[in-house]
Amino acid sequence: MCGIVGYVGSKDAYPILIKGLHRLEYRGYDSAGIALINPAGKLNVYKSKGKVTELEHFVEDKDISGTIGIAHTRWATHGEPNDVNAHPHYSENGSIALIHNGIIENYGVLKAMLAEKGYTFRSETDTEVLVQFIEYLHTENRCTLFEAVQAALNQVIGAYAIAVLDRTNNDEIIAARKSSPLVVGIGEGEYFLASDATPIVEYVKDVVYLNDGEIAVINRHKPLKVVNLNNIESKIDIRKLEMNISELEKGGYPHFMLKEIFEQPRTITDCIRGRINVKGTNVVLSGILDNKERFLNARRIIFVACGTSWHAGLIGEYLFEDLCGIEVKVEYASEFRYRNPVIHSDDVVIAISQSGETADTLAAIELAKSKGAFVYGICNVVGSSIARATHSGTYIHVGPEIGVASTKAFTGQVTVLVMMAMMLAKMKGLIDEEKYREVLRGLIAMPDNIKEVLDQHEHIQSVASIFTYARNFLYLGRGCNYPTAMEGALKLKEISYIHAEGCPAAEMKHGTIALIDQEMPTIVIATNGSVYEKTISNIQEIKARGGKVIVVVTEGDCIVAEMADYCIWIPKTAECITPLLSSIPLQLFAYYIAVNKGRNVDQPRNLAKSVTVE
Ligand code: F6R
Repeated sequence: MCGIVGYVGSKDAYPILIKGLHRLEYRGYDSAGIALINPAGKLNVYKSKGKVTELEHFVEDKDISGTIGIAHTRWATHGEPNDVNAHPHYSENGSIALIHNGIIENYGVLKAMLAEKGYTFRSETDTEVLVQFIEYLHTENRCTLFEAVQAALNQVIGAYAIAVLDRTNNDEIIAARKSSPLVVGIGEGEYFLASDATPIVEYVKDVVYLNDGEIAVINRHKPLKVVNLNNIESKIDIRKLEMNISELEKGGYPHFMLKEIFEQPRTITDCIRGRINVKGTNVVLSGILDNKERFLNARRIIFVACGTSWHAGLIGEYLFEDLCGIEVKVEYASEFRYRNPVIHSDDVVIAISQSGETADTLAAIELAKSKGAFVYGICNVVGSSIARATHSGTYIHVGPEIGVASTKAFTGQVTVLVMMAMMLAKMKGLIDEEKYREVLRGLIAMPDNIKEVLDQHEHIQSVASIFTYARNFLYLGRGCNYPTAMEGALKLKEISYIHAEGCPAAEMKHGTIALIDQEMPTIVIATNGSVYEKTISNIQEIKARGGKVIVVVTEGDCIVAEMADYCIWIPKTAECITPLLSSIPLQLFAYYIAVNKGRNVDQPRNLAKSVTVE
């Protein structure tokens, strides 16, 4: 949700900033902008509606010199996406420029106060109010830019990651964060700043993640200084980046999404590596082991998450209730945080988040912590806000996910949930050895099984081509494949803009069945398992009403295959891990339909990868 990049050092800032914006474009792509201080001390601000390439065209004949600058790619909150509302925003006297990710909630009050003092505003944004407010304090208090930023942030309500430049000091960037991420990369006589490590990784390995309420003074001639809003200096905690630059490139695939779908055999291997032994007889997650008593004595498990991660939580519900006998609730973080939910101090709250930055999930964590619950994180991005805000956790280790539609993160989350459930079921003595080993071996075999599904990509592409015309889709599943059906529907909606609905197969007859006709294709996950026969009846109900049916079935199942119009096979595996296989054809199906419709698969309209606003 908006990407921030900054550079100060001895190199030309522009190419570093533009490359960084491209890396962060998945966070927002409504408009982009850049501010540079040129060697003569002039502050040049360029911005343009649209993607980063539009900005590149716009600056073709402009002065882009300078070794200090900040840049921004936007996902609009206040004000429509246009050139004026794009960041950077700058003060009335043109001396201070600022970029912002987040929302200033009390901007109305501040704007009215500044307007009374004669300030005028060019844009409709909360960010312009913040930069004018900083400029006002800077002038009124005759203080440094750092002091003005600190004073302003002490009066601001809301969420922010900001970077600020003052044309009278071309050595320094002031950056600060609260609820929106910021990381500083430390080089030799140079610093990098970004919303996440992806724009930084090719230049430096040493990084500092800013904490909430911290302000960084980033001066090319001085060591990094980090101070909090109360002016107490923080210890600089330098971390090593483990990311690999090749993970940030498409590697020959036309889209990140396709690359990430095809990466899943490897990402599952990475996710289970060192956790399940080679024989498939034991699984150990240190986060569970270190907090064994918490989990064994948990009154309930409450999953909090959004979107795809919420779907993974629903699969967690099936796993933990069925295998571990623990009562489970699955909550949309956005609803949970605004209710007054009953949370006991012996509840375990599990936050699931790919980015580790989702604002609603972070707020749900804070609420759960305030009520004394133990909070566990399942995140992908190492060092992310959620990973740090939780008491303990397990990383899914699937590598950077750049495509806006989540794919490999979903299967990584489910894999971690399965491993957690297996460990707990074993510790509680609720699973027999045969079943335990069947599931662990199923996970070990999963990369090969996923490859088998991926090998059907041409078949899935041809089925997708037949249905590209459809305006609505229904996705059905039962048991742990009901959340998978909802996930399949979400994938289709977000990248193809076709309406789709995921529904428990048996629930269809209570209303949704009224929608079935020849124009409404249904995708049914009808793999072997405890509810197989019931799902067959549901398919017959659709066929009887003239509906077209595409089924995802277990290899060798001719009964369902004959009933359906089109069939996609997945290898046989333990029932509780079928979502790891059944989700793959649904990802590919959504991808090919979106490509057929000419959609921007990696950057679908109105969306952003990391939702750092509520
Ligand atoms: C869908 C998708 C979103 C995210 C949701 C939560 O493909 O990616 O629904 O799952 O915004 O994001 P994280 O997992 O980063 O908290």
